[in-house]
Amino acid sequence: MKVGFVGWRGMVGSVLMERMQSENDFDGIEPVFFTTSNVGGEAPNVAEGLPPLKDAFSIDDLKQLDAIISCQGGDYTKAVFADLRGAGWDGYWIDAASSLRMDKDSLIVLDPVNLDVIKDGLARGVKNYIGGNCTVSLMLMGLGGLFANNLVEWATSMTYQAASGAGARNMRELIEQMGTIRDGVASELADPASAILELDRKVAATMRSGDFPTENFGAPLAGSVLPFIDSQLENGQSREEWKAQAETNKILGNDGNPIPLDGTCVRIGAMRCHAQALTIKLKKDVPLDEIEQMIAGHNQWAKVVPNDKESTLRDLTPTAVTGTLTVPVGRLRKLSMGGEYLNAFTVGDQLLWGAAEPLRRMLQVLRN
Ligand code: HSE
Repeated sequence: MKVGFVGWRGMVGSVLMERMQSENDFDGIEPVFFTTSNVGGEAPNVAEGLPPLKDAFSIDDLKQLDAIISCQGGDYTKAVFADLRGAGWDGYWIDAASSLRMDKDSLIVLDPVNLDVIKDGLARGVKNYIGGNCTVSLMLMGLGGLFANNLVEWATSMTYQAASGAGARNMRELIEQMGTIRDGVASELADPASAILELDRKVAATMRSGDFPTENFGAPLAGSVLPFIDSQLENGQSREEWKAQAETNKILGNDGNPIPLDGTCVRIGAMRCHAQALTIKLKKDVPLDEIEQMIAGHNQWAKVVPNDKESTLRDLTPTAVTGTLTVPVGRLRKLSMGGEYLNAFTVGDQLLWGAAEPLRRMLQVLRN
């Protein structure tokens, strides 16, 4: 199988390369690396004797491939995809960008949750397989057991989304902001007797000053939260909030009878793990221990964290989860509204299950 890689040098692409190498995914495929800026340059050192980098805009070169994995972003997809299909290319297009996600000719891939939908798509000749929104994919990796048991009547998700979801530059800016705040009160911090309200005033003044680095987020994030992610829709939702219902139901293959999902998406000062607090209205009052078994038994990455303070602070935080494929689910308890109302909190690495992992696994599905 000849597989083209576009956008392998960026943040999601680099995570994809790391994962593919550690799972030996390059064995048995013929990888071809593309570039938008360095044609003829050296391919990454993931296999022997790779050809030099090819032009990612060359339809003739792209046409030679059986599958293409793009982490190059939506603008690239928009620039190339239609021409490539127009030129008669019939290979598999696997993409991290959102541009083609909701197309009727595309499926959203998250195989631990929707392998049946993917296999049905392959049998029907679907050729476009797109990674889902990170928040949606991570929610489904954690709570897939409840959906698989048809227990969810509706859910709201209040998110705590990491800087990486906005891009690599945003991760740097978050740390710049943290450092700027700290540097502004270094002398007050060094003196344990300094007045806390004076320190607080200085911090607020630093964050509100025109010099504070906000070029990428458009507002201070460190020491604050930003309750609007992605573009603004006419109905008052952000696009990120809109995706929850649209993509979840598409992933699950729910035609015509969508499960309502909505909430508020919020950027917080974590680096690369998204967290979300969910209120889930169950179709019936199922005992908590059965719910825990459904969640833990659904896939090997979902892990139930006991609802106690020690376990929660140890295992259910971005700090604990970052860089791992584990998707812990905790704070599981029935809410005071009644036995059909479930509380849950889940955390996941948005660069792994939220971006790169479903793409590399789709390639494995194609090869099997
Ligand atoms: N849109 C997501 C975010 C990331 O801004 O966190 C990618 O799905």
